[in-house]
Amino acid sequence: MPTSKQLNVAVVGATGLVGSEMLKILAQRKFPVGTVRVFASERSVGKQVAFNGNTLKLERLDESSFKDVQVAMFAAGADISLMYGPIAAESGALVIDKSSAWRMKANVPLVVPEVNPNDIRDNEGIIASPNCTTIPLTMVLEPLRQKVGVERVIVSTYQAASGAGRPLSDELEDQMEAIVAKKKPEVNATTHQLAYNVIPGGWKPQQYGYNEEEMKLANETRKILHNPELKIAATCVRVPVQIGHSESVIIETMEAIEPEDVRALLERARGIVVEDDPVARIYPTPLHVAGRDEVFVGRIRKDMSSEKGVALWIVSDNLRKGAALNAVQIAEQAIEMGVIPK
Ligand SMILES: NC(=O)c1ccc[n+]([C@@H]2O[C@H](COP(=O)([O-])OP(=O)(O)OC[C@H]3O[C@@H](n4cnc5c(N)ncnc54)[C@H](OP(=O)(O)O)[C@@H]3O)[C@@H](O)[C@H]2O)c1
Repeated sequence: MPTSKQLNVAVVGATGLVGSEMLKILAQRKFPVGTVRVFASERSVGKQVAFNGNTLKLERLDESSFKDVQVAMFAAGADISLMYGPIAAESGALVIDKSSAWRMKANVPLVVPEVNPNDIRDNEGIIASPNCTTIPLTMVLEPLRQKVGVERVIVSTYQAASGAGRPLSDELEDQMEAIVAKKKPEVNATTHQLAYNVIPGGWKPQQYGYNEEEMKLANETRKILHNPELKIAATCVRVPVQIGHSESVIIETMEAIEPEDVRALLERARGIVVEDDPVARIYPTPLHVAGRDEVFVGRIRKDMSSEKGVALWIVSDNLRKGAALNAVQIAEQAIEMGVIPK
């Protein structure tokens, strides 16, 4: 048994891009772990993953996998979360789910610790962590909402290959190598060749010409900000970047606000770094944000088409703040609030 301060943790999807980042972050942040159990697909059972200078053996998921586990982090896709999330919660673990399976369910809090930490208290055993583009967007919108109100948001994303997991991340590398070798790149992991290209799609089509990713970004933002009526429209685009999602955002506020005041507001916001001096060529790019924990904001300027509008540029590491880090921070916040151990 762990001591009162240590928690037994399960990581489901521990070989994946998000799961392996979770293991790194648990160690880096000295999360109070007792034991760590790691799970992946049949393909990986028996193999090992690294954790904090040691190795852990990958196990097969079954109904008894979560016995004596206090925190179960899921990063193995929605189907696995739907099937095993309730089993883990029934066993007494607090489930923190990185997939989209539970995000929009009424009895499941959808949490960004810097934005809506108190929603954690409403959990019934499962807490969802938002999409990798939603997390940074809400972190920027919340301080503006508090100060001047947010009327409408128009966002275009520039999403890295790793956002779609290892298959697309590996395929981008393979395509780059094929191009250099003057061979024809293979396309399997998404709809079009990503190397030397940008793809305004690849997600499941949904209503009104939008796709699943765009609707997630809109609906999850509304839920986290507790504003079901928020006017928001998104265009999601995949770009040939390995790590780091960027977002170009136009925000119409309820009261007018000057760009300098937006800059000052965001400089004070927890988890945000403002890098904004375009004349000196200072603005965030995915290449230098990869590996960082904060959400970076630059290009803060007036929306020249509106009386009450601001335009800005957001970049964050999709595997860290967009995924694994946010999940670990939810667990840390739950400990601080006394939600775990139960
Ligand atoms: N990548 C991102 O930026 C990001 C951001 C936010 C949320 N997410 C979400 O996080 C989840 C994981 O994404 P990822 O990018 O890490 O994907 P990934 O790199 O493709 O990894 C998928 C993981 O799931 C495991 N898995 C697959 N089938 C399984 C099964 N039947 N039983 C147990 N484990 C199984 C895989 O194990 P094997 O290695 O054995 O196949 C692997 O560990 C997804 O739900 C994704 O939507 C990802």
